[in-house]
Amino acid sequence: MADIKSSTILAIESSCDDTSAAVIRDGMILSNVTAHQDVHMQYGGVIPELASRQHDQHIIPVVDAALRQSGVSREELNAIAFTQGPGLMGSLLIGCSTAKAMAMALDIPLIGVNHMEAHILAHFIDEPRPELPFLCLTVSGGHTQIVHVRSARDMEVLGTTRDDAAGEAFDKIGKYLGLPYPAGPEIDKLAKLGEPKYPFGKSKLKGIEFSFSGLKTAVLYFLKKEMKQDDKFIKREMNNICASVQKTIIDILIEKLILASKETDITQIGIGGGVSANAGLRSRLEAVGQERGWSTYIPRLEYCTDNAAMIAITAHYMYQAGEFVDLSAKPDPRMKI
Ligand code: KG4
Ligand code: ZN
Repeated sequence: MADIKSSTILAIESSCDDTSAAVIRDGMILSNVTAHQDVHMQYGGVIPELASRQHDQHIIPVVDAALRQSGVSREELNAIAFTQGPGLMGSLLIGCSTAKAMAMALDIPLIGVNHMEAHILAHFIDEPRPELPFLCLTVSGGHTQIVHVRSARDMEVLGTTRDDAAGEAFDKIGKYLGLPYPAGPEIDKLAKLGEPKYPFGKSKLKGIEFSFSGLKTAVLYFLKKEMKQDDKFIKREMNNICASVQKTIIDILIEKLILASKETDITQIGIGGGVSANAGLRSRLEAVGQERGWSTYIPRLEYCTDNAAMIAITAHYMYQAGEFVDLSAKPDPRMKI
């Protein structure tokens, strides 16, 4: 086995609407500080320009707090890592420029991390860790992917979504229901109080491929029709509608996960990304896993939604592999695994 190099790394995440910084030493997270942005709530979605401005305000205090909480001084750092993509250009730029400035001032290397790889490697922050190879369903506001993970630095996307991401489906349908952004956590909460009594159809895509835009349209037409007859329908049936929407999304995700497991013969199965915070998805994964003899893994809640600890653990592996970028590195809003 190759020698493990000792390393202390500061990692910055700023891909969307959360500003986060973390410090990791030899693969152990020492701090993980996140500033959330509430400004987008009133608009029903993230407004990129407002997100960049908020990152600009939050980044220095967040980095400062992460260093302070870790007890590590700047001089002890061996590298600075940042989220290079995918994400919003303006948001990524703030993290990228801050990381570059620090790397230049401290004369240490820079690591450009892929946010989607990081959601997957969040599984390697705590024990128990999946055995390799494992399959990871990454479900966030912008992505829905099933990834075959051979090692921390060798991954292959087996399938992705044709249109909306799972989180986007939660958020857009929530908007029709008059719920605040992000609607995923809200739908999750209300679904617990209802019954999935409305059967929304699933797309009939073959293979490991997802589609959620059909569901979004089906729910929109259903609501329009019902509201014409009874303008209190949404209010009265909110919990049941949420339970039905959530069940349909979970059915789609689990069906494709079963298919991927069959096709690859892999039974080490993890989920990651913001939507993996969903209570319904978590309990269904456990139940299906028991039925099928899978070993299932879900990161701690704070490592499911956007956070810098996952950027830090990815940077840890990249440091070991000698994967650095230079000061000319640019954010890549469409960065691929
Ligand atoms: O990974 P993430 O924090 O940010 C992105 O990289 O996009 O994911 C955010 C997404 C949002 O769409 C949000 O509605 C969804 O995750 N989400 C949830 C839950 N918590 C967050 N969706 C369903 N149930 C939840 N409990
Ligand atoms: Zn994310």
